[in-house]
Amino acid sequence: MESMFDLTGRVALVTGSAQGLGFEMAKGLTRAGAHVLVNGRDEDHVANAVSVIKSLGGSAQELVFDVSVDSARATALSAIASEHNRLDILINNVGLRDRRPIEEIDGPDFQALLQVNLTSAFLLCREAVELMRARQWGRIVNMSALGSAVGLKLSPSYASSKGALESLTRTLAAALGPDGITVNALAPGFFATETNAAMVADEDLSQKLFSRTALGRWGEPHEIAGAAVFLCSEEAAYVTGQVLTVDGGCASYF
Ligand SMILES: NC(=O)c1ccc[n+]([C@@H]2O[C@H](COP(=O)([O-])OP(=O)(O)OC[C@H]3O[C@@H](n4cnc5c(N)ncnc54)[C@H](OP(=O)(O)O)[C@@H]3O)[C@@H](O)[C@H]2O)c1
Repeated sequence: MESMFDLTGRVALVTGSAQGLGFEMAKGLTRAGAHVLVNGRDEDHVANAVSVIKSLGGSAQELVFDVSVDSARATALSAIASEHNRLDILINNVGLRDRRPIEEIDGPDFQALLQVNLTSAFLLCREAVELMRARQWGRIVNMSALGSAVGLKLSPSYASSKGALESLTRTLAAALGPDGITVNALAPGFFATETNAAMVADEDLSQKLFSRTALGRWGEPHEIAGAAVFLCSEEAAYVTGQVLTVDGGCASYF
């Protein structure tokens, strides 16, 4: 019998995948057989991530560009089209945080965050869909956050950008289903990534999290990978427009 969740032959772009959850998802997709385009803005950082994946036996290459720059995105997408003539999987993983109350966030701050977290994801979906439609098969996964479904009082711009991303996910799922393209979101809870290092080191905050989470601990970054591989697989062909929460059973929030 063939094994499940096999991604052999698939070409995947994971944005912001030189570190953190993006890197773990990129590794997971390559473990399942996909060829992954590793993205970020820093060439050395991306090259290092690619070399780690290759040293583990995975198939990966660098694709350095800023997701929020139109010309850079267009160049990257045409490079994918000319080199691979396909893009099967897009994971919109880049997401900026802004942990400040509403009084401290002005219009340009809000717009700048939306530009990266929402507009870039929207435009990448639009551009990737052209390549997916050609083969009548595609998987799009948008990285939301647990904070979109609950009130994060210190992250109004971040949480609302993720809420909009979830709405985009449902809308595109409805629009793209007839083309064999599924669109889902992942909503991670609290993961011990590089970016969260200061929070992980904060004993009080960690204890609060442990007391309110079924599994009583931070998520390990690699624990996001299985959910991503599932959503990108053939086996998830009838799953679309969903938000899959991966949060260790967070019961109530900060
Ligand atoms: N970590 C968590 O606990 C958690 C919880 C809920 C949701 N999430 C979501 O999961 C996603 C990943 O979070 P993370 O903490 O793993 O990520 P991260 O470490 O904050 O960022 C991942 C990568 O994104 C790249 N990046 C940033 N801006 C970019 C841009 N404009 N264009 C291209 N690359 C860019 C960065 O590399 P360069 O600076 O080199 O470009 C960085 O290596 C985010 O959407 C986040 O909101 C995370």
